[in-house]
Amino acid sequence: MKVRKAVIPAAGLGTRVLPATKSMPKEMLTIVDKPAIEYIVEEAVRSGITDILIITNRGKGVIEDHFDRSPELEDRLLASGKKDVYDQVVSISKLANIFFIRQKETKGLGHAVSCARSFVGDEPFAVLYGDDVIIGDDPACGQLIRAYEKYGKAVVGIKEVSREAISKYSSLKVAPLEGNMYSCTDMVEKPKTDEEVLSLFSVLGRCVLTPDIFDILDRTAPGAGGEIQLTDAMKTLARSVGMTGVDFTGKRYDMGDKLGILQATVEIALKDAVLGEPFRNYLKEISKTL
Ligand code: UTP
Repeated sequence: MKVRKAVIPAAGLGTRVLPATKSMPKEMLTIVDKPAIEYIVEEAVRSGITDILIITNRGKGVIEDHFDRSPELEDRLLASGKKDVYDQVVSISKLANIFFIRQKETKGLGHAVSCARSFVGDEPFAVLYGDDVIIGDDPACGQLIRAYEKYGKAVVGIKEVSREAISKYSSLKVAPLEGNMYSCTDMVEKPKTDEEVLSLFSVLGRCVLTPDIFDILDRTAPGAGGEIQLTDAMKTLARSVGMTGVDFTGKRYDMGDKLGILQATVEIALKDAVLGEPFRNYLKEISKTL
């Protein structure tokens, strides 16, 4: 079955990016001239997704406003002859069919995904974590969708992390399939000892799930931090029917982390058609003083 629906969980509290995220959702933090979540929606659309559910909560109304029309602003832009900016502003509201639902209590990523049950119905669906921006010519979500179409199993986006970092992530038991694809049959969330580390591959940022994940999530007890962890439900899936891991191409930026935000800003600005050159010159100048 074709993957045409995606879920973007964006209801987290963003405590690692306070005070910026006290009243501004981290998914709305700007990279150059667009909020992070717009890059993510664009990636989904480029991957063939037509329907997107964004999971929000209290205080995240600005996300809804961003993907809505803005008649007063649009009139002003047209009246002042700024047709290019007008087109850009209007196009945001036409990217995809975008729906919103509130996660009423912040009970973890797994709980956020379970809020998508009636939107998803009986179809496979992609999940794009709202604070992970991935930039690449071949959209990461589309790479996972191709792996789903090929192997018919749930797919996780995976990347190798350092041995020091793996204790903060999940560790996957993987075996090579072909190219950058692996079969994944087990996982350990935040391994504490070297014996618990199954590999340095971890789930990062994107997955394609099958609707059986919802029953598994319903049975999943709160895990780390008292939250319902999506990775705990994925472990059940990996151990029972197995999953496919895709070591996706593209550069991932963690917008839930202050250094990640700075890296995204610098690297994406350097690629910008208009700002790239003056920004590069500015960086060269300032680097002399470092
Ligand atoms: P994170 O764990 O990175 O988000 O979740 P967080 O809870 O905001 O992080 P802290 O507070 O800085 O540690 C990954 C994604 O899942 C969403 C977040 O918005 C983020 O996009 N999420 C997380 C939810 O939608 N609901 C939740 O209950 C938790």
